[in-house]
Amino acid sequence: AEFDLVIRRARCATAADVFDADIGIRNGTIASLGSNLADGVEEIDAAGRWVLPGGIDGHCHLDQPTSDGSKMADDFLSGTRSAACGGTTTVFPFACQQKGQSLRAAVDDYHQRAEGKACIDYAFHLIVTDATPEVLANELPALIREGYTSFKIYMTYDDLKLSDREIIDVLAVAREHGAMVMVHAENADCIAWLTERLLAHGHTAPRYHAEARPMLVEREATHRAIAYAELVDVPILIVHVSGREAIEQLRWAHSHGLRIYAETCPQYLFLTADDLGIDDNDHRGAKCICSPPPRDKANQQVVWDGLESGAFQIFSSDHAPFTFAGPQGKFTAGSEASFDRIPNGIPGLETRLALLFSHGVETGRLTMQQFVALTATNVARMYGLYPRKGSIAVGADADLVIWDTGLDRRIRNSDLHHNVDYTPYENISVTAWPALTLSRGEVVWRDGNYLGSAGRGEFLPCALPEPARPKPQPSGGNTW
Ligand code: URP
Ligand code: ZN
Ligand code: ZN
Ligand code: ZN
Repeated sequence: AEFDLVIRRARCATAADVFDADIGIRNGTIASLGSNLADGVEEIDAAGRWVLPGGIDGHCHLDQPTSDGSKMADDFLSGTRSAACGGTTTVFPFACQQKGQSLRAAVDDYHQRAEGKACIDYAFHLIVTDATPEVLANELPALIREGYTSFKIYMTYDDLKLSDREIIDVLAVAREHGAMVMVHAENADCIAWLTERLLAHGHTAPRYHAEARPMLVEREATHRAIAYAELVDVPILIVHVSGREAIEQLRWAHSHGLRIYAETCPQYLFLTADDLGIDDNDHRGAKCICSPPPRDKANQQVVWDGLESGAFQIFSSDHAPFTFAGPQGKFTAGSEASFDRIPNGIPGLETRLALLFSHGVETGRLTMQQFVALTATNVARMYGLYPRKGSIAVGADADLVIWDTGLDRRIRNSDLHHNVDYTPYENISVTAWPALTLSRGEVVWRDGNYLGSAGRGEFLPCALPEPARPKPQPSGGNTW
């Protein structure tokens, strides 16, 4: 046979096109696209079903050390298994530097955590928390050259945040070496001041997490990050944008010709701050605590509009897996702990694609090409994996998903494959779900069965992100 596998009569979509083709796969890559391709050792008849590039989750946290006694429930095995069962074939978790630690030590530690565990391919973003002269002058440039070409910085959280001067210094390194900086934009002092006042008044319940981080806190930090990016003349990407006020800042930046990219996540489409206020026996409030917090119902539509109109380039899960039960999860400080002592973040690796497909594409809000761009292609371009990942093209990895559509299902945590004991999306309807996930030509999920194996996933060094390639001259005639 000419191919290892042929997928026949696929209804393919890329970020640009929709077309019908047979897909011929050899040695884990797409070897041919056409009609009436020669035989494969194995054949799958897609019979006109959608076949899309495997999802790339550009933002998830796996086995990331924490500082408050909590422990993430998903390691590289359970996290990537869950991703594969939801149609994701590449993940970008974070190698997080502890203050006082070298970046290199953080990267080495993180490789050890992944080693032998991942069942799909993975790359790392770095988190820079300690921008020492050594990190800025030597470590970061060396790591960028080795394929760690994107890093996240924080404007809030005491153990993670950089000062404004450090942010500018990191942006300058990114500009010089062509890396992409991801920014968590919330104003730390506003949050600290509000939190202190709320707690002093005995307002400790989960709902006050949202009151401690109102939209203006995100709007101000987003604007400040945009200003620093303009100053340094470097593109940045604002992560987990929650809604209207931050989106207005993105539009302001776009109208001024600035290269500001942005990500949003399922929690801002499917949850509201009211979910934090549900103080039932089930502790739904604590389960939905994440930062920035979900906003009100009207805001969900604003985020949908942003996805549709191009305010956002990337749709990620921000999977941050803390269990509800047990001493190292959401109630690591006790079940009556105040909101500021509940670990931030919610799980979402497995449900990201089906939620957007069902409520975005099948409702007509997004085109299939927009869906592919937001969930795969743009992620690969933004973080240096394109064209190996994120498209259906000859020479690309055979990371593909065949979709079932027209379903009448609801999300149930008992159907998911992560190690978290809840999903914030319990009971939400989905009309589409991956029927089959291929990772480099191997079936890792089929008809409800996980078929992957620990350790088959490969680490991917990243090229320089397309939008961040160094330019010959600073724009605007800067003299520095
Ligand atoms: O609440 C969140 N998003 N937790 C995950 C960490 C982060 O800031 O992305
Ligand atoms: Zn963040
Ligand atoms: Zn995150
Ligand atoms: Zn909080």
